[in-house]
Amino acid sequence: MKISSFTEYQHIYQQSVEQPEQFWADVADQYYWRKKWDKTLEWNFKEPNIKWFQGGKLNITESCLDRHLETNADTPAIIWEPNDPTEAHRVLTYKQLHDKVCQFANVLKNNGAKKGDRICIYMPMVPELAIAVLASARIGAVHSVVFGGFSAQSIADRIKDAECNIVITADGGFRGAKDLPLKSVIDDALVQCPSVKRVIVLTRSHTPVSMIKGRDVWWEDEVKKVETQGNPACPAEEMDAEDMLFILYTSGSTGKPKGVVHTCGGYMVYTGYTFATAFQYEPGEVYFCTADIGWITGHSYIVYGPLSQGATALMFEGVPTWPDAGRLWDIVQKFKVNILYTAPTAIRSLMGFGTDIVNKYDLSSLTKLGSVGEPLNEEAWHWFDENIGHGHCPIVDTWWQTETGGFMISPIANVTPLKPGYASLPLPGVQPILVDENGQEIQGNNVSGNLCIKFPWPGMLRTTYGDHERCRQTYFSTYPDLYFTGDGCLRDEDGYYRITGRVDDVLNVSGHRIGTAEVENAINMHSSVVESAVVGYPHEIKGQGVYAFVISPEKHESEELTRKDILMTVSRIIGPIAKPDKIQFVTGLPKTRSGKIMRRILRKIAEGDTSNLGDTSTLLDPSVVDEIKDGAL
Ligand code: PRX
Repeated sequence: MKISSFTEYQHIYQQSVEQPEQFWADVADQYYWRKKWDKTLEWNFKEPNIKWFQGGKLNITESCLDRHLETNADTPAIIWEPNDPTEAHRVLTYKQLHDKVCQFANVLKNNGAKKGDRICIYMPMVPELAIAVLASARIGAVHSVVFGGFSAQSIADRIKDAECNIVITADGGFRGAKDLPLKSVIDDALVQCPSVKRVIVLTRSHTPVSMIKGRDVWWEDEVKKVETQGNPACPAEEMDAEDMLFILYTSGSTGKPKGVVHTCGGYMVYTGYTFATAFQYEPGEVYFCTADIGWITGHSYIVYGPLSQGATALMFEGVPTWPDAGRLWDIVQKFKVNILYTAPTAIRSLMGFGTDIVNKYDLSSLTKLGSVGEPLNEEAWHWFDENIGHGHCPIVDTWWQTETGGFMISPIANVTPLKPGYASLPLPGVQPILVDENGQEIQGNNVSGNLCIKFPWPGMLRTTYGDHERCRQTYFSTYPDLYFTGDGCLRDEDGYYRITGRVDDVLNVSGHRIGTAEVENAINMHSSVVESAVVGYPHEIKGQGVYAFVISPEKHESEELTRKDILMTVSRIIGPIAKPDKIQFVTGLPKTRSGKIMRRILRKIAEGDTSNLGDTSTLLDPSVVDEIKDGAL
């Protein structure tokens, strides 16, 4: 984990590729296991079947909490900064977090939860969210966290898919100037979800909510019951390394989001190792990750990765631009943050507010910076480097995915020579390759192709919940014997990797993954929409914006109102994050004779590049292209 030079990295990397099992067994040895594994790895990418550390017994919370109690009980595990800067912040030491997790684990048990149950968590960014996640892991239940910005329909889809029996939520939450009516959204979702028998509601916003007898209970009341029972301990459930730890839903190019499944042993080993390695984390450093625990970044790099390393993680309830655009810098100054891990979209949006606001704060505590979610363009890279890192903080541009569990391609802080715009080199144990459309490996440097991984790593997904075939098809069937990432990539003359973006129909909007098919389905739910096609276009702040071409011959009252109605519909069906930035009404879509929409043409129009639309002769009606071009927004 501590790597002192680039030569040492190259040496470790070489070894990790030559003897991957030995390499990962050595890493796994640094965690707490009730029983060591019998077999380090069994795998094939055909089915796929991936098993790491088979026969090993553990509970991830023992590596994240219990093992730190002897020497680091009073080290802050979580520092929490509320949305409202005038509200008091909170600090939970490892001892306090351990106790609260045990206490809430007992609450879960009192409410009928047991090993293997699926628990849906829909909460604001408060410490209790991390506590709920860890308590669920403590009793061997499987958590499915749903980001607080998703709609009732999206939650219902996820609860039904995983057949959750318990939901943990809050009365409401705060994000910037917005109030999130979480419990009320859950009530709407649960109309469709008979599997849910219990809803545990944390008090956060003190807003009125409905509480249904026999189903809904208050978090605080349940905690009191545990306290009066006088048994604060909660022994951790013993899990197999390959038992499920959690499900996290993510968008793909087709249909409904799929439940990516991560398992206990491999995920623990991988998130802890990659966290400690990429950031070269030193004990005592304050590490601030601006992600929400509702996404994989929060799972792996606010909760599990940092905690397994005994780190101090700062979690923030609000947004970077509220009450003003100095909020992140204020937090850095207030807590003397050393490591700041954020997203390109946040950097780009803060860039727009200029440097005067940045210069009001003392950022001298910062020593390392990180970025995740989408390519960090060069302009944003330099702004981040100069104005936030003051030229002396390495920028760790981490490329990875929900499915990979943790960082895959990333610089190692103060070790890897940096190049703006490049995720740089694979971490030890990661074997990326580039392939052409036929699945042939593209050797050498100065090449580009589709990014695949040719050997398993412990943090990789094992299946998609309830549908293993979908997992095989999505990730392992495009190129036989390879895991396909869905990303395009180039490798430069030094062997450095630069991710160029998705090559499938997945958009990356402000670092959030959104499937075009999903948005189209939501738009098509609107009563006056006949058909739609959604593509991405370059957006200065969000990275990509959502551009929808919509056929709606009979508009209600006016075009403007119909446009707003469509936005409302998408908000209802998916959530506000999927709302199109632009809606262009059209009378037809460019289709081939076999009925396939030619997205290539729509993409070009959305990008504003209509000079060369390529061959349109195979279209059923080429004249629609001119009409769409003329009406482009
Ligand atoms: O396209 C890549 C992009 O985000 C996708 C994964 O999205 P998600 O599963 O939501 O996870 C986001 C947080 C890990 C990838 O397929 N992506 C992620 N990180 C980077 C990136 N693109 C370029 N550079 C990155 N550092």
